[in-house]
Amino acid sequence: MADKEGLKTAKNYRPEIPFAGGRLPGGIKGVGGLDWGMQRRMTHIFRPDDGKTVMLAFDHGYFMGSTSGLERLDLLIPELMDGVDVLMGTRGAFRTCVPSGNRCGLALRVSSGSSVLDDDLSHEVVAVGIEDALRLDADAMAVQVFIGADGEKESISNLSRCINEGLTYGIPTLGVVAVGKQMERTPRYFKLATRMIAELGAQIVKSYFCDELDEIVAACPVPIVLAGGKKLPEKDALEMVRRAMDCGVSGVDMGRNVFQSACPAAMARAVSMIVHADASAAEAWEAFREISHEKT
Ligand code: R5P
Repeated sequence: MADKEGLKTAKNYRPEIPFAGGRLPGGIKGVGGLDWGMQRRMTHIFRPDDGKTVMLAFDHGYFMGSTSGLERLDLLIPELMDGVDVLMGTRGAFRTCVPSGNRCGLALRVSSGSSVLDDDLSHEVVAVGIEDALRLDADAMAVQVFIGADGEKESISNLSRCINEGLTYGIPTLGVVAVGKQMERTPRYFKLATRMIAELGAQIVKSYFCDELDEIVAACPVPIVLAGGKKLPEKDALEMVRRAMDCGVSGVDMGRNVFQSACPAAMARAVSMIVHADASAAEAWEAFREISHEKT
């Protein structure tokens, strides 16, 4: 273990230089060393034509119960699933409310712990076995990672277990950077958390918008998808997505900023225009207004 004293500050990120590691297929970062089956599942998460993704996160119920906007998954998800690439949810939601005949990739939430009633959410377990992930035909397993929190070690153990089993059966692991009450939200923190998750072997990392995101992306050898976070006005959320894409993220994994929007389907479409069609934030905002007007 390197001595913690006297560590130099990292600064040689060179975000202007493209990633030099394996990128096949579809330009997806870091997949060169993966087995064929896992590469194939990665193309169900990231579109093989551009290596980008729009993921819809609706896994909130696993610790929040019925959240605003997610009261009726059975009505919402079928309405949105044509406008996104990947559905990220719990096995309970998939089996009860999501038609199995959809064309989306499937990211399955496999870690869980206590509810919002608990002050410390950082003590999770792996609640879904790999056999059930395979049975559900999951393209990725999502695990929350609590770097710097009380449950850090358990969450790293959860992540490692999923990565080990995922490598055995060919299912990628999505390491979700947790943010919480006692945890920092600084570039320093996100640089630490994203790089740790990638070096521990996760094939995808979910993290938040912050300053120096271009350096965070440059230093992370696997794709980073942008977490949405708390609900913002649609125009601001679209600007955040544009700025994150300009920093090199491989897409988004958004929940509340889509399903709590005044028009979730229009928001999903507008986000997708930025991610897949390189639209400006202004163009996407205009499209959001037009589509939401048509729908109301
Ligand atoms: C992230 O911490 C969890 O995976 C959430 O349940 C969810 O995915 C968060 O999505 P958002 O912050 O975009 O609502």
